[in-house]
Amino acid sequence: MENNVNEELMDKLKKVCVCKNINRATIKSAIKSGARTLEQVKSVTGAGTGACKGRRCLHVIEDLLEEYHRSK
Ligand code: FES
Repeated sequence: MENNVNEELMDKLKKVCVCKNINRATIKSAIKSGARTLEQVKSVTGAGTGACKGRRCLHVIEDLLEEYHRSK
């Protein structure tokens, strides 16, 4: 239980897409709500569409997608 709370807190604090100010909680929630590919996560959240064009964040989103698919 405490681990879940910590994880949720960290998800809110951790920025995945710095350019667009999008945290890990937003990315995870998009994935949970049905975004299953990088393109879908990008279009739902706007992550990866900032100034660096995803250079700093797309690999993190890919990891989160992979983690989700692995846990299924
Ligand atoms: S960090 Fe996501 S587009 Fe730059």
